This record gives sequence, structure tokens and C-alpha cells, in this order.
Amino acid sequence: MAKLQRRSWAEPFKIKMVEPLKMTTRSEREAAIVEAGYNTFLLKSEDVYIDLLTDSGTNAMSDNQWAGMMLGDEAYAGSKNFYHLEENVQKFYGYKYLVPTHQGRGAENIISQILIKKGDFVPGNMYFTTTRLHQELAGGTFVDVIIDDAHDSENLNPFKGNVDLQKLESLITKVGEKNIPYVTVAATVNMAGGQPVSMENIKQVRALTSRHNIRLILDATRAIENAYFIKRREPGYADKSIAAILKEFCSHTDGATMSGKKDLLVNIGGFLALNDYEVFEEARNMVVVYEGLHTYGGLAGRDMEAMARGIEEAVQYDHIKARIGQVEYVGEKLLSIGVPIVLPIGGHAIFLRRALPRFRHSCDGTRHCIRGQEQRNGGSLLSKARTRATHIPTPCVYSGTLRCSCGIGGNRF
Ligand SMILES: Cc1ncc(COP(=O)(O)O)c(C=O)c1O
Repeated sequence: MAKLQRRSWAEPFKIKMVEPLKMTTRSEREAAIVEAGYNTFLLKSEDVYIDLLTDSGTNAMSDNQWAGMMLGDEAYAGSKNFYHLEENVQKFYGYKYLVPTHQGRGAENIISQILIKKGDFVPGNMYFTTTRLHQELAGGTFVDVIIDDAHDSENLNPFKGNVDLQKLESLITKVGEKNIPYVTVAATVNMAGGQPVSMENIKQVRALTSRHNIRLILDATRAIENAYFIKRREPGYADKSIAAILKEFCSHTDGATMSGKKDLLVNIGGFLALNDYEVFEEARNMVVVYEGLHTYGGLAGRDMEAMARGIEEAVQYDHIKARIGQVEYVGEKLLSIGVPIVLPIGGHAIFLRRALPRFRHSCDGTRHCIRGQEQRNGGSLLSKARTRATHIPTPCVYSGTLRCSCGIGGNRF
């Protein structure tokens, strides 16, 4: 008898609350997508049955997180939830100082404004849109130093998010270390399809940046997913806990920007974490202007509590295994029916290499009422994300990447 296999993505939780969905007819869905100008960002949520637009902020929170929401200390200053979050960021990420922000881009704005001066260069392993824009608004020029493999959607490199040390070193030689305030490493790399960075690579980047006195700032938005890939793929880490890998990874960096809406299982929240007291002091002053006092940074006390508790849950091996297992499962199903997707299957999203006309049609909500999004992938594939964001109707385009971030698969749903 064939051995019964446990599905890798079996969920380590029970569902005890449901959110009713509106059931629509095909003609209602067709009308909705026409009304939205074929722009999935303009669809109303209630018209979408399966929403694969993004993993961002779409998490289902646990009973423990909801219980924490009831313990929100909404004092203007010194909320106890801030101290809980600070304690957990120190414990799990290892950074000394914490500045909460309303979401990741709030932290990106602050760090960019503090460290970048006009004419600087900011290297990174590909980029996330808001990260790069904040760097540019602060007067910097982004330079992509990711390995070439990341731009090849069929390359099977297990660590396609790695920084190319040669590219980084050449940039330092060309523009001079004084003109590089910091290097950004995102782990995992969203735009490359949720591809991870190896521990070996971050150590080498650290060694190189240290030799040149350049700071290293982590985009830790999905660093827990990254830790899972290290455990699964990198020699020497199979027996280490996700928490230990996460902390080791962060220890090679000087600070981090964080969008808690992904790894940390909340619907809103983020932070800037730092080791350098002087930079922290500046950030603590600046957050007051852009977000709110330094002990709430644009968040309610209850949101900080949910994020503090989310960290503890997110580093549990069974949780992260199921979270990424769901994405693998969907990806493998798509591969088995011949849908061309970016390989290897990433942590939080499935990127299609080409949107097939029929599938594309489905994703725009008419056939099955599924919503996805298109976005630029390292410049090598066609993007419509910006067009969508600027509300210009986009006709069906059959080249380009269609990202199905698993708002359903990657998250607890
Ligand atoms: C890798 C990465 N960094 C930063 C951000 C920005 O975070 P937020 O949306 O919380 O501002 C995102 C959002 O998707 C992201 O994926």
C-alpha cells in the first residue's frame, strides 16, 4: 500500500471565524472588471472571490493576537505595547533600538532622509518600489547589485536574491565609499519572485561593507521566510531553529526596515530597527514629524501588541513551513498544468513568466473571480503595476509577470 504522505502545507491552526463572501454571477463580474478598466487595483474587494493581489496586510490574525488587541494601551506616550514590541524586536531580530512606523514605507522614508545626501548611490539586491523611491526622493541613485541569475526567470539557483559581490565592489571603486551611505539587502527579494539570500552571502556582503565603512540595512519584511529557505537549502542550518537563523542573519546588518504586514501576521504596522544610537536618535526625532510620537509611530497601541505577538508566532517552524508550503503547492499545481512560472517557487508569491490569455482573463475576475497583479521584475519583463497605480486602464497584456502573491496561500486564510 502506498505510504500516506502528510501534505507539506497542512495548516497548524483551526479556523473558528469566517467572513462571508458575496457570490457573484459571471455577468456581474464582467461588469465589475470593465468598470475597473481591467485594472485589478480598482476592483472592489467584495467583487473578488479569491484575492491573490498581495500578501500585504491580508493576514488572518490568531486568537492570541486578537486577545492582545484588547490589551491596547492607548496612552499618547509610553504605551506598554510599545515596550512589548521593543522587547520582541530585540529578542528575535537582535537590534538595539526600535522606532515603530505605520508600515514599511514609513521606516524607509526615515532611514533614507537621515542617511542619504544628494548625489549618493544606494546599492541593493533589486528593489522594492517604495524603498527605491524614498532613496531617490532623498537625492540618491539606486544601483542594482543582485546576481544575474535573479533576472533569469528559469534559473534554479536556490539563493537567487544574493548580492553580486563583484558588482558591489566595482561600484564602490567607481563612485567611492564616501558616496555610498548604505547597502540595502532585501530578504527575501519580492521583485525577483520571493527569492532568498543565503547566510554565506550576507556574511560576505557584511565583510565587504565593513572594509569600506558602509552601513548595511536589511529590508526584513520577509526575513522569517528567508530564514526558512536557509534552513531548508543551506548546508549547516537544517538543525537550527528559524529564530536562531533569523537572529544570526540580522546580526550581520546594522539595522532594518520592516513591513509587519507580511511576516508578522498583522494587517497594519512596521518599524525601523537600529543598532547605532546616533542614527536612532535622529530617527526618533523624525518619526514625530511623519508618523507620530516615537512610542507609537502612527500605530494604535493594540496594533503594536498584535505585531509583538505576531513575531512570536511567525518564527514557529510549523507556521512558516505551512505558509511557504501553500505557495509551493499552488506553484506546483500550476507547473503541472504547464503554466510558466518564475522558478524556483518563491516564498510569498507565484510570478507568472507570461500571463496566458485564459489565465489572465481569469485573474481579472471574470472566469473565476480571482485577482492578481502585474509588476515589473528587474526591468526584464513588462510591467503594468505603475499604470495600474496611476489608474490608467490597462488592456489585457499577454507578456509580463502576473504575480499571484498568496493572499490566500501565503497567509492564514
Ligand atoms: C520587500 C518589501 N519592502 C517594503 C515594502 C513596503 O512595505 P509597506 O507596504 O508596509 O509600506 C513591501 C511591501 O509590499 C515589500 O514587499
